[in-house]
Amino acid sequence: MFARDFMTVSRRFLVIAITCAVTVSIAQDDDAESPASEPAGDLVLVAGATGRTGGHVVSELLASGYRVRAFVRDADAAREKLGTDIDYAVGDVRQRETIDAALDGTTAIISVIGAGREDPRNGPEFVDYGGTKNLVEAAVDAGLDHFVMVSSAGVTHEDHVLNKMFNNVLIWKFKGEEAVRNSGVTYTIIRPGGLNDKAGRENEVVFEQGDNAAGMIPRADLARVCVAALVYPEARNRTFELVGGDGPFTDDLQSQFAGLGGD
Ligand SMILES: NC(=O)c1ccc[n+]([C@@H]2O[C@H](COP(=O)([O-])OP(=O)(O)OC[C@H]3O[C@@H](n4cnc5c(N)ncnc54)[C@H](OP(=O)(O)O)[C@@H]3O)[C@@H](O)[C@H]2O)c1
Repeated sequence: MFARDFMTVSRRFLVIAITCAVTVSIAQDDDAESPASEPAGDLVLVAGATGRTGGHVVSELLASGYRVRAFVRDADAAREKLGTDIDYAVGDVRQRETIDAALDGTTAIISVIGAGREDPRNGPEFVDYGGTKNLVEAAVDAGLDHFVMVSSAGVTHEDHVLNKMFNNVLIWKFKGEEAVRNSGVTYTIIRPGGLNDKAGRENEVVFEQGDNAAGMIPRADLARVCVAALVYPEARNRTFELVGGDGPFTDDLQSQFAGLGGD
């Protein structure tokens, strides 16, 4: 929805039902086929894993040798979508204690959360800002190595039409960014242009700074950049826009990160 709006218009937990988040391990720990000697990659918490970008992030992490814990509101629905090769933690980014419970054993968070339009109690102020602030504060308290946030191109433009159309979504995302930049955690903030569901790995991706980028980017390519941000030291403490280019696909993301100015 946001995607269509973005492109059309832009050229620019709970419950503590149970007191804490329930980590439902559905990984194959009991599976006799998993060799005990196989090296275990770092465990990354993906917030927004059930989303359209989140699924790609999970796949990219697994393909890169990471272990994944998906932070989800509905474990059954998530399991159906994302399978049994990952762990699940049930929570809600508006409920800080559910995040704390989900971070045990993790080294990093990739956040691809986004507010919905249906429930005002789950709008941008509470998800894109409040949820991001809760996530990054929990990351700092847990001593995590890295926080990757997916924000949006256009966040510094207060008069952007998306703010008028969708409860100041970009203004709240920018406040979320500021919470991350000011937190003291090592971070990467990625501001994609309009998202689409093309296959990815078809064209180059373009990194820009200055918040004047215009264009689209496949969610699959965005996910690839999110995971690369954990890998390359050049991605640390950088904020940048990400759009698709016309040039041929190249997997050299390290030099793209290296070309970015620091925050
Ligand atoms: N669409 C665009 O063109 C565009 C452009 C620029 C930036 N972005 C940003 O890119 C990111 C990814 O976009 P997308 O289209 O892939 O997102 P999406 O499909 O809308 O997924 C959003 C995710 O956030 C989760 N979420 C929402 N509220 C939550 C809460 N209170 N607690 C925990 N999780 C919650 C959803 O979980 P449930 O499954 O439980 O609902 C879902 O997994 C978002 O930040 C979006 O704003 C999008």
